[in-house]
Amino acid sequence: MTRDEAKNRIIFALDVDKLGDIDRWAETLAGKVGMFKVGKELFTAAGPAAVAALKRHGGEVFLDLKYHDIPNTVAQAMLAAGRLGVKLANLHALGGPEMMEKAASAVRKLFTDAERPRLLAVTILTSSTQDTLKAVGIEQPVEQMVVRLARLAKESGMDGVVASPLEIQAIRAACGPDFLIVTPGVRPSFAAVDDQKRIMTPVEAVKAGADYLVIGRPIAKAADPVQAADLIVDEIVKGTP
Ligand code: C5P
Repeated sequence: MTRDEAKNRIIFALDVDKLGDIDRWAETLAGKVGMFKVGKELFTAAGPAAVAALKRHGGEVFLDLKYHDIPNTVAQAMLAAGRLGVKLANLHALGGPEMMEKAASAVRKLFTDAERPRLLAVTILTSSTQDTLKAVGIEQPVEQMVVRLARLAKESGMDGVVASPLEIQAIRAACGPDFLIVTPGVRPSFAAVDDQKRIMTPVEAVKAGADYLVIGRPIAKAADPVQAADLIVDEIVKGTP
């Protein structure tokens, strides 16, 4: 894999809560990562201005707001995300087929294929255990639920899923080569594990079939974030054909 291909697979998790911190990160990591992830914390604190600030610096954005609501509301929220110019946005597959279908068709209707955001479904959050599922009345094993929801997401017009590295292979086998798989829980060989438990290295995740890797603290908390991003790209380039 070339350096550019490896770099484009890295999504930096911009887990900050102040608009003022965005410019610094966008400048520091411009050309070093492929995309920036704006999550609930930053979006709740700073709103669409967070996305606009990243785009001013030429950054692509993954809007990680994990919508789960009635179909019409989610479809409208996705259109609003599309108007912000984000490249990836997501929702919860547990919202069901009608919710996903409505979001997918609304976005395809309003935007051209080149400009529309790619829609991802969250299957089962990696923080959920078998006991969590049981408590809400789901008896199926987590792994089976993940694959079931990934298939449903694909059938409902989603472009891909967000999944733990350990689930990549099963989803790839079930949903085929063109379905996007975005994975957090990635730790380069030089970094601390933090609170991530079910982890893989970037190379392992790419080899298992991940299209994008969400990486936060290994870059954000590094003494030299630019060097850390470069090292991750090096690892991927060296470890892949
Ligand atoms: O700092 P770290 O690399 O662990 O950041 C990973 C990012 O991915 C964080 O924004 C975290 O909230 C998110 N995430 C995760 N596990 C999931 C889903 C999202 O770590 N299952």
